[in-house]
Amino acid sequence: METITVNLAATPGERSYPIHIGNGILSQTGIILNLLPRKRVAIVTNTTVAPLYLEKLRSTLESQDVVSVPIILPDGEEHKNWQTLNLIFDALLTHRCERSTPIIALGGGVVGDLAGFAAATYLRGVPFMQFPTTLLAQVDSSVGGKTGINHVLGKNMIGAFYQPRVVVADSDTLDTLPERELRAGIAEIIKYGLIRDPNFMEWIERNMTGLLARDSEVLVEAIRRSCVNKAEIVEADERESGVRALLNLGHTFGHAIENAMGYGVWLHGEAVAAGTVLAAELSQRMGMIGKVDVERIRNIYRQAGLPVAAPSLGPEKYLHLMGLDKKVEGGKMRFILLNRIGEAVVRSDVPAAVLAETLLECTANA
Ligand code: NAD
Ligand code: GLY
Repeated sequence: METITVNLAATPGERSYPIHIGNGILSQTGIILNLLPRKRVAIVTNTTVAPLYLEKLRSTLESQDVVSVPIILPDGEEHKNWQTLNLIFDALLTHRCERSTPIIALGGGVVGDLAGFAAATYLRGVPFMQFPTTLLAQVDSSVGGKTGINHVLGKNMIGAFYQPRVVVADSDTLDTLPERELRAGIAEIIKYGLIRDPNFMEWIERNMTGLLARDSEVLVEAIRRSCVNKAEIVEADERESGVRALLNLGHTFGHAIENAMGYGVWLHGEAVAAGTVLAAELSQRMGMIGKVDVERIRNIYRQAGLPVAAPSLGPEKYLHLMGLDKKVEGGKMRFILLNRIGEAVVRSDVPAAVLAETLLECTANA
């Protein structure tokens, strides 16, 4: 088992937490025992993950005399909303869960974001633990404390920063992950290479076959290196007032794609891949990254079997949807652009004409 610590230095020791990564660690409950105020937890999961891993987790907890309250949500990005959040609150209240009852999120990013927001707000905050079961959640969403839900007018618009007490990423759970979901997770791994870690980018290019074949050593290494990157960013800028915004590379375009196509139609990672190609094209038109590197970016997504062409919604629709993005400040759109592979920056000086040209030229026949 590998362990990485997210050091939240403002309050040393108090809010710092470990990320445990390894094969079969879902059955090692010793990992969380010392973090439980009492021997009772609530486990939030969904109808897909429950039949696969809920009993495994519950029985290992039971073997340590820990009682668990299962809360099984409908599956899907389209359920990441108030109604589903209320299902969690209903269950927590019905089972009289207390401030000392930690909430465990067992599932992908949707379950993690919903359960985390519930943990942040139920009784004004209860302990939260992440047991991510998708590649995307293991390399990104379970770390860093972003929690929340979608609104019909925009993705992830309502939420809270609320850090987990521990992250337990069992790479064995990825064995059952659908192929398309695996590829979507790879998009978030590539992101770290593009924004800050050119050596990791080269490693991903060399190891793409192993990643797609779910070679467990390759997966654990990819998760580890991703989590090291994510932890460093979160440590430097927990509440996204600076460098953390770089993690949103491709997301301004990507969220517009997800919203326009209907949540769940394009997977988040797919939208991020096509959105990152648009961001790279925009960067190139801004005189930043070179054409060869834009092509290298397209190629790595192709290697991963991810879409490189964003849907042609028309510039106006993109501009409208992107105007709803959380990164808009003072009415100005901010973009994460690439100087080169391994170096991203935030820019709010993109001329409207350059943006419109990119959207026109790179969405239809890209
Ligand atoms: P997801 O949670 O919808 O999971 C994808 C699918 O895989 C679902 O059908 C799920 O039930 C299923 N599944 C999960 N684990 C499985 C397993 N081991 N075997 C078989 N099936 C399994 O999607 P996701 O890609 O994990 O997460 C996407 C969400 O994460 C989006 O809502 C996105 O906004 C959010 N996100 C949040 C952050 C953050 O920092 N909080 C970062 C990135 C993405
Ligand atoms: N996934 C973006 C962030 O955690 O900031």
